[in-house]
Amino acid sequence: MDNRPIGLLDSGVGGLTVVKKVVQKLPHEATVFIGDNANIPYGDKSVAEIIALTRESVNFLLQKNVKLIIFACNTATAAAMAAIQKEVAPQIIGVIQSGSVAAIKTSKNKQVVVVGTQVTANSHAYKKEIGLRDSAIAVTELAAPKLVPLIERDAPHAEILPVVKETLQPLKGQEFDTLVLGCTHYPIIRQEFAQVLGQGVQIVDPADQVAQYTYNVLQRDNLLSASAEPGVHEYYTTGDVRMVNELGKSFLQEPNFTAKHIEG
Ligand code: DGL
Repeated sequence: MDNRPIGLLDSGVGGLTVVKKVVQKLPHEATVFIGDNANIPYGDKSVAEIIALTRESVNFLLQKNVKLIIFACNTATAAAMAAIQKEVAPQIIGVIQSGSVAAIKTSKNKQVVVVGTQVTANSHAYKKEIGLRDSAIAVTELAAPKLVPLIERDAPHAEILPVVKETLQPLKGQEFDTLVLGCTHYPIIRQEFAQVLGQGVQIVDPADQVAQYTYNVLQRDNLLSASAEPGVHEYYTTGDVRMVNELGKSFLQEPNFTAKHIEG
């Protein structure tokens, strides 16, 4: 048993979509979340820059004495997880392995699409992870660089919908049955994806599988919290707390959601 918190990081508010699923699955666990809003987007930065920024967030979480770290960011998982896992003791869980497992379970016709940042698409991390487990699955990776800035400023539905349409336009005529939300910001606009895709296409949010995997790891390593009380959750941002608080309140449905600012 281990009552220390689980640490989670992202470049911005997207990671809250993972926090939500982890807290639902593990309600007695404490969490510490850091969103690096001062440096968002990570999706168009170099791998070296992403490693350096992610390392800062990891060091912050280590100071908070976390027992496990979740990279609640596909871009950081693709670009920085392998390098940083070598440097730190706590296990790091990324979102891409879990997203790949979920996609394989979901797809019947073995045609999967992954939408993510430019860095995630260029890394072909999903293609590799899915291919390792089932080489018969065809994976199309698409970059959607315009979506994260819209989500971060809480743009209205009418502004987001045409950008989702434009992003998915190259898929016209393809017979895929599964689409992976390969950026942790996208579950916030899942409704827009569903509207453009219509029925017939299953949407996969890797966070469900991340939460299950986190539970499995904590149980395996005897790290589950012994507390009978609901876990305490701390939120930090290197950016402007106002927008993070607004999105946190509405998205997590936590009226008292309060993020603290730290220097990034
Ligand atoms: N939420 C991050 C991800 O899952 C990406 C946002 C960014 O570009 O910084 O990839």
